[in-house]
Amino acid sequence: MNVDIHPDHRQTPFPEWMAAIQKRVEEALSRYLPPEESIPARLHQAMRYSCLNGGKRVRPLLAFAAGELCLAEPDKLEIVSCAVEMIHAYSLVHDDLPCMDNDVLRRGRPTCHVEYGEATALLVGDSLQTLAFELLTRDNLGDAKIQLEMLRVLAHASGSLGMAGGQAIDLDSVGRTLGLPELELMHALKTGALIRAAVLLGGLCGNPLTHEAREALDRFSRRAGLLFQVVDDILDCTASTATLGKTAGKDSAADKPTYVGLMGLERAREFADDLRAQALESLAVFGESAQRLVELTNFITQRKF
Ligand code: IPE
Ligand code: IPE
Ligand code: MG
Ligand code: MG
Ligand code: MG
Repeated sequence: MNVDIHPDHRQTPFPEWMAAIQKRVEEALSRYLPPEESIPARLHQAMRYSCLNGGKRVRPLLAFAAGELCLAEPDKLEIVSCAVEMIHAYSLVHDDLPCMDNDVLRRGRPTCHVEYGEATALLVGDSLQTLAFELLTRDNLGDAKIQLEMLRVLAHASGSLGMAGGQAIDLDSVGRTLGLPELELMHALKTGALIRAAVLLGGLCGNPLTHEAREALDRFSRRAGLLFQVVDDILDCTASTATLGKTAGKDSAADKPTYVGLMGLERAREFADDLRAQALESLAVFGESAQRLVELTNFITQRKF
């Protein structure tokens, strides 16, 4: 199916829309990543191994869905989606390293460092990160001022005040009991920041949004980002390794602070429902044009892996 996000295509059922975006992003990532035979071939193979054939592509889906609010061109959404997905894939490669979560399974396959060695996994992260920023400099992304804003959004979300900072707090918190505000900050940074960036980048691809619309989208993205990691914490201790494609129980077993650890399973589920309601409330101002964002919020809440 051809992915089109214009209003008359809103009739497409959500699962079909999702599958079409996932396919489009998979093909685009494959085009933007260096071919596996190009030198240094081992590094390029490992980059492709870490980015392709797996992952729900939630961040690209959010970018495409946010793009619907401002009639963004799919070609632009494809580029920003690949950029944010490359940062995400890099974060997973590093997250799995022995010096971080020490995990051997990711997306149903051996982790990058198990397959290619730790030094290559380190370089995969470095290279995916820089390629992501290079993508945002492409000519066909539009106005240079907007492109600078995109670079700023993604850089901020990836660094010490975003994902990397959240990972630092995560590592620092092993064996400690965090209070709710600290746990929320950790989650908002390590996972929320990139989710938020995906939404904002999608919004920057189309017609300018009013100040109120930008604020509403930002509120949505923050709630959705936190929701995503609360659900990750719940799945970590309720789903099986086979379903998740990554080691179940890893975060709880490692004595990491999680929402389930702090609140118990029932209250963590209630909290996820509250966050879902708050996220949906932020979308009310957009009416029907937020249909895909609404559907994605429900998907993020109800997902099984
Ligand atoms: C897993 O992210 C790690 C977190 C940031 C919580 P996803 O659940 O989006 O992983 P993939 O991309 O679908 O494998
Ligand atoms: C990962 O969080 C967050 C980032 C990679 C930035 P987790 O450590 O909880 O993710 P999983 O459970 O390994 O996918
Ligand atoms: Mg981790
Ligand atoms: Mg982990
Ligand atoms: Mg986890």
